Amino acid sequence: MSDYGSDEFEDDEHPGSSSKHSISSPASDKYSDDDYEEAFEDETPMLTQTQSPQKSNEHKTSSSSSSSTTTTTTTTTTSGNDTSFRGTQWTHIDPEELEIGQRIGGGGFAIVFEGRWKGKHVALKTLFDPRVGEKLKQEFMDELHVMSSLSHPNCVDLYAANTRPPKLVIVMELCDRSLYQFLHQTKEPLSQELAMQMARDTASGLAYLHEQSPPIIHRDIKSMNLLLTVNKTVKLCDYGLVTTKVTAAGTPSYMAPELLQSKPFSKKVDVYAYAIILYELFTREMPWTGYAAMEVRQMVLDGERPDVPTVDCPYLIRGLMRRCWDGDSQKRPSFDQILTEIQAWEPPINHIGLLDAGVGDSLDSLGGGMMGLSLRK
Ligand SMILES: Nc1ncnc2c1ncn2[C@@H]1O[C@H](COP(=O)(O)OP(=O)(O)O)[C@@H](O)[C@H]1O
Ligand SMILES: [Mg+2]
Repeated sequence: MSDYGSDEFEDDEHPGSSSKHSISSPASDKYSDDDYEEAFEDETPMLTQTQSPQKSNEHKTSSSSSSSTTTTTTTTTTSGNDTSFRGTQWTHIDPEELEIGQRIGGGGFAIVFEGRWKGKHVALKTLFDPRVGEKLKQEFMDELHVMSSLSHPNCVDLYAANTRPPKLVIVMELCDRSLYQFLHQTKEPLSQELAMQMARDTASGLAYLHEQSPPIIHRDIKSMNLLLTVNKTVKLCDYGLVTTKVTAAGTPSYMAPELLQSKPFSKKVDVYAYAIILYELFTREMPWTGYAAMEVRQMVLDGERPDVPTVDCPYLIRGLMRRCWDGDSQKRPSFDQILTEIQAWEPPINHIGLLDAGVGDSLDSLGGGMMGLSLRK
């Protein structure tokens, strides 16, 4: 169990009692985590439902990496997450019901495929290797529990799962691609309005995670873990680090100083990572390119940060970036604050566009000219 309770997250780093999500009464075709335990003990079909939540990661002490760019150490410290996330339930499926298509991601502990389930185009996060050990199975279950407790337009939807080996699979909403792929592997245009919308979507998903009781700290926010729908709505995915107790797990460029030092942490680590997302959104560059992980760590601990963009980046975002990657976690804003500020943002009036459209002439003809008029609503 984590040593941190819900209230203590609020203002960081103070040990407290842990609290749990309550479990709602399962529907008839749903299974839950007790079924999972049973399934690993023997292969008896699971026909019963659980009444009480189970502490699925009490024994967990370390985590593997969640992507090829993730580094981990075996340092174990108290974590900022209450790890008793007991997602309530999910629809159980037989892997035979699935059509498996092209591989679309993964490579850490799981592989993600696109596929089809009940006529629906879906994404399948799979752990098909019969040699995977208990630890990986537990990580898979932990992620499933977290996903099953969430429902928000900026979080990927869970549809169903199979928790019986050897074919463990999470069936979820299929997105178009990751934000990383869009920003760094295409040259598709990204207007300031769209970048702001993506920043707002991400903040909205994270505000939702943080308002859960106990709060859910994602711990692995990076552009590879933000998915885009075809309409370019951002959806959070990959809850693989939510329940880990390894504070040093993560991708260095996105890791707050307290994580880089394996110190106790709070939900403000997601705010730090969000600053890096803002940087990516408004520069279309990855920070610290060309530096080794240890160099990034040292620079960040020395107080260095990427250069705040000065071109094509609203003042609001420049300020948010600086506040969100503050070395002092308590000075970082909450996602509620961030959302409020982003929602109040209005796109700048395109003066040139107005003049081109003849608006300037008509204003001039009214005798006011552009200079003396307020252009804001
Ligand atoms: N629901 C989904 N729709 C579309 N692509 C997805 C989906 N889930 C994951 N992916 C792709 O697979 C990659 C890896 O998935 P992720 O859940 O982050 O696994 P890992 O734990 O291996 O990092 C993502 O970066 C994304 O490119
Ligand atoms: Mg990932």
